[in-house]
Amino acid sequence: MSKTILITGGAGFIGSHVVRLFVNQYPEYKIVNLDALTYAGNLENLKEIEGAPNYFFEKVDIQNAEELEFVFKKHAISDVIHLAAESHVDRSISDPLSFVKTNVFGTVNLLNVAKSAWAGELDQHLFYHVSTDEVYGSLHDGGFFVETTPYDPQSPYSASKAASDHFVRAYSNTYKMKTVVSNCSNNYGPNHFPEKLIPLCIHNIKNMKPLPVYGKGENVRDWLFVKDHARAIDTVFHKGKPGETYNIGGFNEWKNIDIVRLLCKKMDEKLGREPGISETLITFVQDRAGHDLRYAIDATKIQQELGWEPSLQFEEGIELTIDWYLANQEWLEHVTTGSYQEYYKNLYDNR
Ligand code: NAD
Ligand code: TYD
Repeated sequence: MSKTILITGGAGFIGSHVVRLFVNQYPEYKIVNLDALTYAGNLENLKEIEGAPNYFFEKVDIQNAEELEFVFKKHAISDVIHLAAESHVDRSISDPLSFVKTNVFGTVNLLNVAKSAWAGELDQHLFYHVSTDEVYGSLHDGGFFVETTPYDPQSPYSASKAASDHFVRAYSNTYKMKTVVSNCSNNYGPNHFPEKLIPLCIHNIKNMKPLPVYGKGENVRDWLFVKDHARAIDTVFHKGKPGETYNIGGFNEWKNIDIVRLLCKKMDEKLGREPGISETLITFVQDRAGHDLRYAIDATKIQQELGWEPSLQFEEGIELTIDWYLANQEWLEHVTTGSYQEYYKNLYDNR
């Protein structure tokens, strides 16, 4: 069946993989990528598909209801996959309000516009909200997050995502909107903005710069390759039951310090450096305020009910990721100098 899917945040890290997958895999769908192009949005991520006949881009901020309404009418949007968000915990600590504005207010704005556009036929349209495992809080004594784990967000970022999840469920219950939510663990892979741990370390190792490890590096994250997350989003979009929540994870827990050491080892090999050289760059720095100790997802539900599971082992995914960054130095340079923003500002501010 033909659909016109609005994917928000499609110029970001995960969103660009989702847009690429949908544009290539579903030529019968129209894919509308809506993105405000903040510092984290980069249309260079989508170069290969920007000329595809089923791909459209709209530079819009989800805080702007009028522009959202315009896009819904112009493209006759049938479904939404919502990824646009402020996504970096450290930024949320220094500027919580911008997280409230985009993640909470922006999401409610989008829900309202979708509700009006689909009035009278809410059961025929899906609003899919992409969220994070961080809403469940921090694990200290073993165990895993399951879909029924009570929310206990600990950072301004996770509090804002938790609030947006609650609003999506409230719209399902109150207005009978057809919604689905997924909560995923930490992603890694190509196109990841180099403020996050893995791309930051790859970039700094390459340039022999310090590798800042927060606290003692004992914090644990569950890492999933970004293309596997995009595949999971495809699965949930097509097969998920309305009103349900699906946890998505890699069954792949690592302490931060072990990841950093692994990256050092692999990069020494790839760059032909003397073994152990890159590890000398490791620098323990002041811990993040309120740093969550451990996240770990139990992804049994999506595996058993929808048949999704990760396709890549971590060692394989990390190899692919390092190789991608080494082969795409220009991308990294544009992102680190900010020059990509200038280019697209000129291009889209005149529309
Ligand atoms: P990202 O920061 O790389 O990309 C976010 C995108 O949203 C950017 O393109 C940005 O321009 C856009 N955006 C930001 N504010 C906007 C606004 N007001 N209006 C329109 N567009 C706006 O983030 P990401 O890592 O790709 O994460 C995408 C989604 O997945 C987020 O909702 C995040 O909470 C969720 N998530 C991320 C991870 C992860 O490990 N990165 C894990 C689980 C869930
Ligand atoms: P990050 O990639 O910011 O993702 P999140 O905070 O959403 O999990 O951080 C991953 C882990 O790495 C987290 O425990 C914080 C830590 N970290 C560092 O030790 N040094 C860094 O420079 C960064 C960015 C993160």
